[in-house]
Amino acid sequence: MSIAFLVIGSGGHAAVVADALLAAGEQVLGFTDPDARRHGQTLCGLSVLGDDSVLDQHTPAAVLLANGIGGAGAAGGQGLRAKVQRGLEARGWHFAGVRHPRAVVSNFAQVSASAQLFANCVVQTGASVGDGCIVNTAAVVEHDTVLGEFVHVACGAVLCGNVRVGAHSHVGAGAVVRQSVQLGEATVVGAGAVVVKNFAGGATLVGVPAQARRQHT
Ligand SMILES: CC(C)(COP(=O)(O)OP(=O)(O)OC[C@H]1O[C@@H](n2cnc3c(N)ncnc32)[C@H](O)[C@@H]1OP(=O)(O)O)[C@@H](O)C(=O)NCCC(=O)NCCS
Repeated sequence: MSIAFLVIGSGGHAAVVADALLAAGEQVLGFTDPDARRHGQTLCGLSVLGDDSVLDQHTPAAVLLANGIGGAGAAGGQGLRAKVQRGLEARGWHFAGVRHPRAVVSNFAQVSASAQLFANCVVQTGASVGDGCIVNTAAVVEHDTVLGEFVHVACGAVLCGNVRVGAHSHVGAGAVVRQSVQLGEATVVGAGAVVVKNFAGGATLVGVPAQARRQHT
Protein backbone atom coordinates (compact mmCIF):
# COMPACT_ATOMS: atom_id res chain seq x y z
CA MET A 1 0.00 0.00 0.00
CA SER A 2 1.44 3.40 -0.92
CA ILE A 3 1.55 6.14 1.69
CA ALA A 4 -0.35 9.38 1.11
CA PHE A 5 -0.14 12.68 3.00
CA LEU A 6 -2.70 14.92 4.64
CA VAL A 7 -1.61 18.46 5.49
CA ILE A 8 -2.89 19.79 8.82
CA GLY A 9 -3.89 23.44 8.38
CA SER A 10 -4.74 25.42 5.25
CA GLY A 11 -2.91 28.74 5.54
CA GLY A 12 0.18 29.96 3.73
CA HIS A 13 2.55 27.56 5.44
CA ALA A 14 0.27 24.63 4.62
CA ALA A 15 0.44 25.56 0.93
CA VAL A 16 4.25 25.67 1.07
CA VAL A 17 4.27 22.25 2.73
CA ALA A 18 1.98 20.76 0.07
CA ASP A 19 4.02 22.35 -2.71
CA ALA A 20 7.25 20.81 -1.34
CA LEU A 21 5.63 17.38 -0.94
CA LEU A 22 4.32 17.49 -4.50
CA ALA A 23 7.73 18.62 -5.78
CA ALA A 24 9.23 15.60 -4.01
CA GLY A 25 6.80 13.33 -5.86
CA GLU A 26 4.57 12.51 -2.88
CA GLN A 27 0.84 11.91 -3.04
CA VAL A 28 -1.08 14.62 -1.14
CA LEU A 29 -4.78 14.05 -0.42
CA GLY A 30 -5.54 17.62 0.69
CA PHE A 31 -5.79 19.78 3.80
CA THR A 32 -7.71 19.77 7.08
CA ASP A 33 -8.71 22.91 8.97
CA PRO A 34 -11.07 23.53 11.89
CA ASP A 35 -12.36 26.69 10.16
CA ALA A 36 -15.47 25.61 8.20
CA ARG A 37 -15.23 28.75 6.02
CA ARG A 38 -12.13 27.27 4.41
CA HIS A 39 -13.66 23.90 3.59
CA GLY A 40 -13.91 23.36 -0.16
CA GLN A 41 -11.27 25.99 -0.98
CA THR A 42 -8.27 24.87 -3.02
CA LEU A 43 -4.54 25.39 -2.51
CA CYS A 44 -1.93 24.01 -4.90
CA GLY A 45 -4.81 22.39 -6.76
CA LEU A 46 -5.85 20.40 -3.67
CA SER A 47 -8.96 20.79 -1.52
CA VAL A 48 -9.47 21.74 2.09
CA LEU A 49 -11.34 18.56 2.91
CA GLY A 50 -12.85 19.39 6.31
CA ASP A 51 -11.87 19.43 9.97
CA ASP A 52 -10.04 16.72 11.94
CA SER A 53 -12.95 14.32 11.36
CA VAL A 54 -11.41 13.76 7.89
CA LEU A 55 -8.81 11.67 9.71
CA ASP A 56 -11.53 9.18 10.70
CA GLN A 57 -11.71 8.10 7.04
CA HIS A 58 -8.04 7.02 7.12
CA THR A 59 -5.56 5.05 9.20
CA PRO A 60 -2.04 5.95 10.37
CA ALA A 61 -0.78 2.93 8.43
CA ALA A 62 -1.91 4.45 5.13
CA VAL A 63 -1.71 8.19 5.74
CA LEU A 64 1.08 10.34 7.13
CA LEU A 65 0.41 13.85 8.41
CA ALA A 66 2.41 16.96 7.57
CA ASN A 67 2.24 19.98 9.86
CA GLY A 68 0.91 22.95 7.88
CA ILE A 69 0.70 25.31 10.84
CA GLY A 70 3.36 28.00 10.62
CA GLY A 71 4.66 30.29 13.30
CA ALA A 72 5.03 33.66 11.65
CA GLY A 73 5.01 36.23 14.40
CA ALA A 74 5.97 35.01 17.79
CA ALA A 75 6.37 31.96 19.94
CA GLY A 76 2.57 31.75 20.22
CA GLY A 77 2.29 30.49 16.66
CA GLN A 78 4.99 27.95 17.31
CA GLY A 79 3.08 26.87 20.40
CA LEU A 80 -0.01 26.04 18.35
CA ARG A 81 2.09 24.13 15.83
CA ALA A 82 3.56 21.94 18.58
CA LYS A 83 0.27 21.55 20.45
CA VAL A 84 -1.65 20.30 17.41
CA GLN A 85 1.15 17.94 16.37
CA ARG A 86 1.64 16.46 19.84
CA GLY A 87 -2.14 16.05 20.25
CA LEU A 88 -2.50 14.08 17.02
CA GLU A 89 0.61 12.02 17.79
CA ALA A 90 -1.02 11.05 21.09
CA ARG A 91 -3.92 9.68 19.01
CA GLY A 92 -1.51 7.45 17.06
CA TRP A 93 -0.86 9.63 14.00
CA HIS A 94 2.64 10.08 12.59
CA PHE A 95 4.00 13.39 11.32
CA ALA A 96 6.37 13.03 8.40
CA GLY A 97 9.24 15.32 7.58
CA VAL A 98 9.14 17.47 4.47
CA ARG A 99 12.20 17.99 2.31
CA HIS A 100 11.96 20.06 -0.85
CA PRO A 101 14.11 18.44 -3.56
CA ARG A 102 16.17 21.63 -3.77
CA ALA A 103 17.00 21.76 -0.06
CA VAL A 104 20.75 21.26 0.40
CA VAL A 105 21.37 18.99 3.36
CA SER A 106 24.76 17.64 4.45
CA ASN A 107 25.08 13.89 4.86
CA PHE A 108 26.65 14.75 8.19
CA ALA A 109 23.70 16.76 9.51
CA GLN A 110 21.10 15.23 11.83
CA VAL A 111 17.54 16.01 10.79
CA SER A 112 14.71 14.81 13.05
CA ALA A 113 11.82 12.86 11.64
CA SER A 114 9.22 15.62 11.42
CA ALA A 115 11.50 18.53 10.49
CA GLN A 116 10.60 20.55 7.39
CA LEU A 117 13.27 21.81 4.99
CA PHE A 118 12.18 24.09 2.16
CA ALA A 119 13.52 25.23 -1.21
CA ASN A 120 17.08 26.55 -1.34
CA CYS A 121 17.72 26.17 2.37
CA VAL A 122 21.10 24.83 3.46
CA VAL A 123 21.69 22.60 6.48
CA GLN A 124 25.42 22.21 6.87
CA THR A 125 27.65 19.48 8.23
CA GLY A 126 27.33 18.72 11.92
CA ALA A 127 24.08 20.68 12.27
CA SER A 128 21.14 19.22 14.18
CA VAL A 129 17.52 20.09 13.37
CA GLY A 130 14.99 19.12 16.03
CA ASP A 131 11.56 17.58 15.75
CA GLY A 132 8.91 19.83 14.25
CA CYS A 133 11.41 22.48 13.10
CA ILE A 134 10.92 24.60 9.99
CA VAL A 135 13.98 25.63 7.99
CA ASN A 136 12.21 27.92 5.57
CA THR A 137 12.97 29.08 2.04
CA ALA A 138 16.65 30.02 1.53
CA ALA A 139 17.47 29.90 5.25
CA VAL A 140 21.00 28.80 6.19
CA VAL A 141 21.74 26.60 9.19
CA GLU A 142 25.51 26.54 9.24
CA HIS A 143 27.88 23.89 10.55
CA ASP A 144 27.36 22.47 14.05
CA THR A 145 24.33 24.66 14.74
CA VAL A 146 21.71 23.00 16.95
CA LEU A 147 17.97 23.77 16.74
CA GLY A 148 15.73 22.57 19.57
CA GLU A 149 12.29 21.21 18.76
CA PHE A 150 9.73 23.37 16.94
CA VAL A 151 12.16 26.13 16.05
CA HIS A 152 11.19 28.14 12.95
CA VAL A 153 14.09 29.60 10.96
CA ALA A 154 12.23 31.95 8.62
CA CYS A 155 13.03 32.75 5.00
CA GLY A 156 16.56 33.94 4.34
CA ALA A 157 17.73 33.87 7.96
CA VAL A 158 21.35 32.88 8.53
CA LEU A 159 22.52 31.01 11.60
CA CYS A 160 26.32 31.07 11.47
CA GLY A 161 28.34 28.12 12.72
CA ASN A 162 27.86 26.51 16.12
CA VAL A 163 24.78 28.55 17.07
CA ARG A 164 22.32 27.10 19.62
CA VAL A 165 18.60 27.98 19.35
CA GLY A 166 16.29 26.84 22.15
CA ALA A 167 13.04 25.00 21.50
CA HIS A 168 9.97 26.90 20.26
CA SER A 169 12.03 29.87 19.09
CA HIS A 170 11.36 31.91 15.95
CA VAL A 171 14.22 33.43 13.96
CA GLY A 172 12.68 36.06 11.72
CA ALA A 173 13.15 36.52 8.00
CA GLY A 174 16.58 37.79 6.99
CA ALA A 175 17.96 37.75 10.54
CA VAL A 176 21.60 36.83 11.18
CA VAL A 177 22.85 35.10 14.31
CA ARG A 178 26.62 35.34 14.79
CA GLN A 179 28.68 32.19 15.22
CA SER A 180 28.61 30.42 18.61
CA VAL A 181 25.73 32.57 19.95
CA GLN A 182 23.28 30.77 22.25
CA LEU A 183 19.57 31.67 22.46
CA GLY A 184 17.27 30.25 25.12
CA GLU A 185 13.88 28.67 24.60
CA ALA A 186 11.02 30.64 23.04
CA THR A 187 13.24 33.44 21.79
CA VAL A 188 11.77 35.59 19.00
CA VAL A 189 14.32 37.21 16.71
CA GLY A 190 12.71 40.00 14.69
CA ALA A 191 13.03 40.16 10.93
CA GLY A 192 16.36 41.65 9.88
CA ALA A 193 17.95 41.58 13.33
CA VAL A 194 21.63 40.79 13.80
CA VAL A 195 22.23 38.89 17.02
CA VAL A 196 25.82 39.11 18.26
CA LYS A 197 25.59 37.89 21.87
CA ASN A 198 23.77 35.28 23.96
CA PHE A 199 20.23 35.86 25.28
CA ALA A 200 18.23 33.88 27.81
CA GLY A 201 14.88 32.49 26.73
CA GLY A 202 11.63 34.33 26.18
CA ALA A 203 13.08 37.58 24.79
CA THR A 204 12.03 39.37 21.60
CA LEU A 205 15.18 40.66 19.92
CA VAL A 206 15.16 43.41 17.30
CA GLY A 207 17.66 45.67 15.56
CA VAL A 208 21.33 45.75 14.64
CA PRO A 209 22.95 44.75 16.90
CA ALA A 210 19.89 43.05 18.35
CA GLN A 211 18.59 44.16 21.75
CA ALA A 212 15.78 42.73 23.83
CA ARG A 213 12.78 44.88 22.96
CA ARG A 214 11.56 47.20 25.69
CA GLN A 215 8.20 46.04 27.03
CA HIS A 216 5.43 48.54 26.31
CA THR A 217 3.00 49.04 29.19
C1 LIG B 1 9.71 41.40 16.10
C2 LIG B 1 8.26 41.02 15.86
C3 LIG B 1 8.01 39.58 16.36
C4 LIG B 1 7.41 42.00 16.66
O1 LIG B 1 6.08 41.79 16.38
P1 LIG B 1 4.96 42.57 17.25
O2 LIG B 1 5.11 42.20 18.69
O3 LIG B 1 3.64 42.34 16.60
O4 LIG B 1 5.45 44.08 17.15
P2 LIG B 1 4.78 45.35 16.43
O5 LIG B 1 4.63 45.13 14.97
O6 LIG B 1 3.57 45.73 17.24
O7 LIG B 1 5.92 46.44 16.63
C5 LIG B 1 6.29 46.89 17.93
C6 LIG B 1 7.48 47.80 17.78
O8 LIG B 1 8.62 47.05 17.38
C7 LIG B 1 9.12 47.55 16.12
N1 LIG B 1 9.53 46.38 15.32
C8 LIG B 1 8.73 45.35 14.94
N2 LIG B 1 9.43 44.45 14.25
C9 LIG B 1 10.69 44.91 14.17
C10 LIG B 1 11.86 44.42 13.56
N3 LIG B 1 11.88 43.24 12.92
N4 LIG B 1 12.99 45.13 13.68
C11 LIG B 1 12.98 46.33 14.35
N5 LIG B 1 11.90 46.85 14.95
C12 LIG B 1 10.76 46.14 14.86
C13 LIG B 1 7.97 48.32 15.50
O9 LIG B 1 8.43 49.30 14.62
C14 LIG B 1 7.31 48.88 16.73
O10 LIG B 1 8.06 49.97 17.17
P3 LIG B 1 7.35 51.22 17.98
O11 LIG B 1 6.75 50.64 19.20
O12 LIG B 1 8.49 52.17 18.23
O13 LIG B 1 6.32 51.75 17.02
C15 LIG B 1 7.87 41.07 14.35
O14 LIG B 1 7.76 42.40 13.85
C16 LIG B 1 8.83 40.32 13.45
O15 LIG B 1 9.86 40.82 13.00
N6 LIG B 1 8.46 39.04 13.19
C17 LIG B 1 9.16 38.17 12.29
C18 LIG B 1 8.29 37.95 11.05
C19 LIG B 1 8.89 36.93 10.13
O16 LIG B 1 10.06 36.63 10.15
N7 LIG B 1 8.06 36.35 9.31
C20 LIG B 1 8.54 35.34 8.39
C21 LIG B 1 7.63 34.19 8.31
S1 LIG B 1 8.28 32.99 7.16
